[in-house]
Amino acid sequence: MNAGPSDPSPPRPDSNPERPDRNLAIEIVRVTEAAAMAAARWQGRGDKESGDQAAVDAMRKMLDTVEMDGTVIIGEGEKDEAPMLYNGERVGTGHPPEVDIAVDPVDGTRLLAEGRPGSLAVMAASPAGAMFDPGPCVYMEKLVVGPEAADVIDLDRPLQDNLRVIAEALGRKVRELTVMMLDRDRHEEAKRQIREAGARLQLISDGDVAGAILAAWDDRPQVDVLYGIGGTPEGVVSACAVKALDGQQLGRLWPRNDEERRDALERDFDLDAVMTKDDLVSSEDCFISCTGITPGQLLRGVTFDRSGAITDSLVMRSKSGTVRSIRARHRTQKLRRYASVRY
Ligand code: FBP
Repeated sequence: MNAGPSDPSPPRPDSNPERPDRNLAIEIVRVTEAAAMAAARWQGRGDKESGDQAAVDAMRKMLDTVEMDGTVIIGEGEKDEAPMLYNGERVGTGHPPEVDIAVDPVDGTRLLAEGRPGSLAVMAASPAGAMFDPGPCVYMEKLVVGPEAADVIDLDRPLQDNLRVIAEALGRKVRELTVMMLDRDRHEEAKRQIREAGARLQLISDGDVAGAILAAWDDRPQVDVLYGIGGTPEGVVSACAVKALDGQQLGRLWPRNDEERRDALERDFDLDAVMTKDDLVSSEDCFISCTGITPGQLLRGVTFDRSGAITDSLVMRSKSGTVRSIRARHRTQKLRRYASVRY
């Protein structure tokens, strides 16, 4: 067989090769699949809490099957407010490796409750101590791009300047860029600036984890930039994906009011600092899995039929950069015979 121009050259011998090691992402996909299937039963029923609770319960049960000594860094809030998967909760079998865990059992609880597109179940993991703990900081300003523009963005520069350098890095005009942003009143000025610069604006009602992945992933050219103020926990989760995709995510904490500002300063958070993906997750070996609940731009939603359900997930590992797309058929009739998760 002839080696065509696109055939890769054979690998050079490596003086210090490493054996393939464990890819936790492949195990945690079961966790997000379980959460998505449990949550999807609540699609369009107008009940945010029950959909979220179903996802949390399923996630919790499946997490305990994973061989790891996990601590939830990004969870469902403080212990008193969340019965499960609260910050600081230990999950997994309790055996090494020690890992930090971030969960968002439903990113887009409102989307799910209203039966709108784009809700996901998502979970990320990194070696212990690597994840940024946002403490009381609920929101952060975020700017996310893919690999080609990873080195040119700067959150200290005006948004329009960033759009210009991103367009240059992509070899395009600003008017050929698509910027995704949460549709919120706090974004009125940014909305004006983006439109004035001539870029296309795609407003989403919720779900900026999926937005960050779409912006960072050069396999999905429909979104070039994610910009806006969104959840800090979601920012840590999406940083794991951005690292796997070799994009960049910049973020700055954004206190909602004076009380939150005071609280953050008392706890030594630097509110002026611009954090990169590496500040949000400092390890080069982090993992993320997400499974669609309702159908969206990133993933298909859960579909139920007579024999069970089909799920669509993405799993990524930053060390290798491997992105796997996993479409799974679940025989819920069979699972119900023995599984403690209520599908
Ligand atoms: P929930 O599923 O927790 O409601 O989060 C959805 C979401 O849209 C996130 O994707 C985003 O980061 C955050 O809410 C933005 O917060 P807010 O809705 O308060 O503007």
